Amino acid sequence: MFKKTVIAGISVLSIAFAGVAFAAGNGAETMTLKGGSPGDVSFPHKKHQDTLKDCNACHKLFPQEAGAIAKGIAAGTLKKKDAMKQCQECHKATKAKGAPTGPTGCKDCHKK
Ligand code: HEC
Ligand code: HEC
Ligand code: HEC
Repeated sequence: MFKKTVIAGISVLSIAFAGVAFAAGNGAETMTLKGGSPGDVSFPHKKHQDTLKDCNACHKLFPQEAGAIAKGIAAGTLKKKDAMKQCQECHKATKAKGAPTGPTGCKDCHKK
């Protein structure tokens, strides 16, 4: 009786933890990135995860952490606009191949 209850308890717990780990591990589905004077940038995170299927397409440059870009700039591991260049360079390269991609013009990303 005692054994059964403990086993049931453990499996309920591990399912709960798996759910939390999955949600936290992928981060927000969409986010607004601080874009300085030309205005903030709306970023569809989940769409990129689904399309690119490679977290390191972006996270090689900064960790999987809210505010990672600002922290990197403050710590000197990232220069201003390094993260932006990563967005732009990929969009330009995909566009050159004729594949569906994201915006490349300033005002298509930055909105006041
Ligand atoms: C196209 C670029 C890109 C890809 C691909 C990408 N991310 Fe992110 N991710 C970002 C950006 C930008 C941020 C926000 C960083 C900041 O706040 O400074 C972020 C933040 C996060 C965060 C922090 C939580 C949050 O909501 O801010 C987590 C966790 C995360 N990403 C996980 C992942 C995982 C897991 C994958 C792969 C399945 C992935 N990311 C793929 C760009 C990307
Ligand atoms: C693909 C989207 C995208 C495009 C296109 C784009 N930007 Fe950005 N920009 C961002 C993102 C995301 C950030 C914030 C991350 C960073 O600082 O690297 C940013 C940051 C900036 C900043 C703030 C830097 C700072 O920290 O003070 C300026 C200024 C800026 N962009 C100007 C421009 C100009 C000018 C253009 C056109 C030549 C442009 N951006 C095109 C996405 C974009
Ligand atoms: C490694 C390549 C890559 C990087 C890096 C990347 N993108 Fe994209 N982006 C794409 C592709 C591919 C699409 C087209 C996705 C689709 O249509 O499924 C896209 C689409 C978009 C769209 C349009 C989404 C829509 O609903 O039409 C926006 C906005 C965008 N990206 C913003 C950004 C910003 C901001 C960053 C940097 C923080 C960024 N992207 C970094 C490849 C990239």
